[in-house]
Order: sequence, then structure tokens, then C-alpha cells
Amino acid sequence: MRKRTFVLIVTLALLSWAAVTYHLFLQRPQGKAQRSVRFQEQLELLESELKYQLKSNDELLFLLHQFRSKYPDKIKNLKSLASLEQKYAPDFSNVVIGVLVFACNRVTVKRNLDQLLKFRPSAEQFPIVVSQDCGHEPTTRVIQSYGDQLTLIQHPDQSDITLSGKEKKFKGYYKIARHYGWALNETFFRFNFKSVIIVEDDLDIAPDFFEYFLATYPILHSDPTLWCVSAWNDNGKDSVVAYEPELLYRSDFFPGLGWMLTKSLWMELAPKWPKAFWDDWIRQPAQRKERACIRPEISRSKTFGKVGVSNGLFYEKHLKFIRLNDRFVPFTKMDLSYLKKDNYDVAFVKQIYGVPPVTLHQLQRGSIEHSEPVRITYENKDIFKKTAKALGLMDDFKSGVPRTGYRGVVSFMYKGRRVYLAPPADWKGYDPTWS
Ligand code: UD1
Ligand code: MN
Repeated sequence: MRKRTFVLIVTLALLSWAAVTYHLFLQRPQGKAQRSVRFQEQLELLESELKYQLKSNDELLFLLHQFRSKYPDKIKNLKSLASLEQKYAPDFSNVVIGVLVFACNRVTVKRNLDQLLKFRPSAEQFPIVVSQDCGHEPTTRVIQSYGDQLTLIQHPDQSDITLSGKEKKFKGYYKIARHYGWALNETFFRFNFKSVIIVEDDLDIAPDFFEYFLATYPILHSDPTLWCVSAWNDNGKDSVVAYEPELLYRSDFFPGLGWMLTKSLWMELAPKWPKAFWDDWIRQPAQRKERACIRPEISRSKTFGKVGVSNGLFYEKHLKFIRLNDRFVPFTKMDLSYLKKDNYDVAFVKQIYGVPPVTLHQLQRGSIEHSEPVRITYENKDIFKKTAKALGLMDDFKSGVPRTGYRGVVSFMYKGRRVYLAPPADWKGYDPTWS
């Protein structure tokens, strides 16, 4: 009875806190002229509400402590507050995450598999399934040489895909999508994994690749506004990142390239899985449904696949400059709950719109007096593109979302300074026509 009451009080307190935060966060100023004043007011209001909420949480906690010392025997069965608090520290020992490697006709899959096996902390926690398409025997032999360290499955459908005219040159993308659909069905419905990390045969991985996915697993499963965790930073070039490998973010842009999804997401996507270009398809609003991925500051993956289905030009111009992390970060021992939407968004908006605005010109000229973070505003697509290009960032959009963007904001480093390329504060959402 008492335990129930206690749980009820705590639940109610948490729920009301979440409701207040969410409600305040949703309110946005309307009139353009009043935009920044209204925005400032909102922030202040929000801040005072949060302070109030924190204070009442403290009071609640104090009451609970009193209650505990007053009735020590009555709460014998009630686990101590300390152990209740511990419940929020996740237990990773029972987590199993399948690792699905896509292979086709490149014997260099060995480079990827060697790294997976080298960095894998436990074969039980991270069973590896290599799914091979293309029926290329030398590649099959390489995979088989690993014996029972992994499981090889082979895509049975090697039938030709007939395409006409312009579509012909995209056959590779049709094959990849068909293979993905089959292999994901296998891993989720036959192997029955609750979560799967997707790896392609041309990826290098960082030493803390598995640690990163293990630590973010509980968050992915408990925050419905997240739909993936990715090892990849699309703006992960040495020149625009901070060497702070512990930094993680939310991103509205689906990065792919070493990423984790849940079975429930697969059950949602499987019935409508596309015939080609699965990654651009998944980025469309009808699939994304405003969900975000977690991504790192420093990439935990890097592609060495210069020769592949897509043009090697992108590799030469961009992909090969991505910095791969080399310092192990003990993510499972860190509190990552800040990545949940309820904890993240208010602080995020406050941080971005609380730093001084500057122009691109001021930033480039180096005429800013301090070394603190600054914000550059973009009002439209063209300004975004021009600014991104000038600062060495990816300047493209997929379904209106810029690479690594969160609430329209792209965060990066410029000559040792944190910079946010951000839309105006009254941002209303992505425009899918931006491309
Ligand atoms: C690019 C993306 C890749 C995405 C693909 C599909 C980058 C760097 N890569 O592929 O993440 O999945 O577009 O839109 O952005 N494969 C098959 N069957 C085939 C050919 C390839 O299963 O017939 C497998 C490969 O083994 C590999 C994956 O599909 O694991 C991607 O193939 P790759 O040749 O590397 O193409 P990208 O151009 O890198
Ligand atoms: Mn590739």
C-alpha cells in the first residue's frame, strides 16, 4: 500500500514536470515583429517554471526522506530510496544487440570483420550475422574463414532486376534495397533480435563502437522520439569537429553508416520497404515522423569504400576526410539521459539562441573579440548553402533537413570556436522542398 502510494507520488511529480516542460516548449511566438521579445519572455518564463519545478521536486524528496526515517519498520518492504534511485542506472548485462554486416563482392570485407572482432567486447552480447548478396565466391570464402565467430547467411534472391531507360544505371541501388529488406527480416524475425546494428562491408569502426551502441540502447528503447543511433557524423571532418569524443547529439538527419534500429521500427518499415534508394526514402517525412537519431561529435565509423555502387567522387571530395575516433569513451558508465527529448530540447534552444549572433563575414575575418560560441542565422535555403559551403560543411538537404541538423541547427567548429548555423528563433519546421 505504502509502496504504491510512494510510486504514485513520484510518478505524478514526474508526469507534471514533463507536462509543464512540454507545454511551455510548444508555445511559440506568432508575430514577426515581436519575435525576439516574445522569445526572450518565453525563455524566462520557462526558466522560472523549471526552477519552481526543481524546488518542488526537492521538497518532495525531503518529505520522502522524512517519511522514511519516521516509519523505518513500516517500509521494510519498500526498497530504500537509494536503491530506487539506482534503478535509473541501466543494467547492460542482459542486453543483446545483433550486428548485421552487409557484404556482396568485395573481399575487403575482411578489413571490416577483423575490426568488429577485435573491438567486440562479448560474442554473446553482440552476435554477428554477415549477410551476403551477389554470390561472389571469393568473398564467401573470406567470410567462412571466420568459423563460428560469426554467422553467414546468403541472400537467396539473385534474380535479375529489369529496369528501363534512365533507371538502368541505378540497378545497384535496387539490389541493395532488396538485400536490406530480406536480411532485416531474417535478423528480426528469424534470429529475433530486439535491436540490430547495421554495418556495411566497407566501414572502419572506432574502438568504442560497441560501447557507444550499448550505452545508447536504453535511450533508444525508452524515448519514442528517437528512431536510431548512428556512429556517423556527416560533418565529421577534422577541420570542423572538436576533439571531444564524449560529445553526443540528437539529429533530425538520418546519418546511416553504422546505425542501430529496434525491431518495432523494422515492423513499421518492413511492409512499405522501398525498391531502391532506401536511405533517402527513410529520410522522407512519411517515414521519419519527426523522430531523431543520436550521433557523435567524432565519428565511430568511416567508409573506406572508394569503389562501390555510388560515384567515387563523393568519397574523394568528402568522405575520406572524416575523422575516426581513436579514444575509448566509457559511455556505459556515463549518464546519457540528457539525450532524451524532454531533457534535451529546452536546454538546446536556450543554448543556441542565447549565444551572440554574428555574420559570416565577422566570423571569417576573425574580428570577434571573445572565443565563446556564436550563431549565424540563415533565413532561407540559399543563405544556408552559401554559408555552409564557405565554412566547409555539407550543404545539401534531404527532405528539407540539412546534414546533422537538429531543429534546423547545424553545430560545428570554426577555428577552435563553436558555431551554430541556425534558422531564426521562431522556426516552424523543415521545408521538404529545400534540396
Ligand atoms: C550508398 C551508401 C550506403 C547505402 C547505399 C544505398 C554511403 C557512403 N553509402 O552506398 O550506406 O546503403 O548507398 O542507398 O553513403 N551491396 C549489396 N548488393 C549489391 C551491391 C552492394 O548488398 O548488389 C551491399 C554492399 O556490400 C555494401 C552496401 O550494399 O554493404 C552498400 O554498397 P556500396 O557499394 O558500398 O555502395 P555505396 O555507394 O557506398
Ligand atoms: Mn559504401
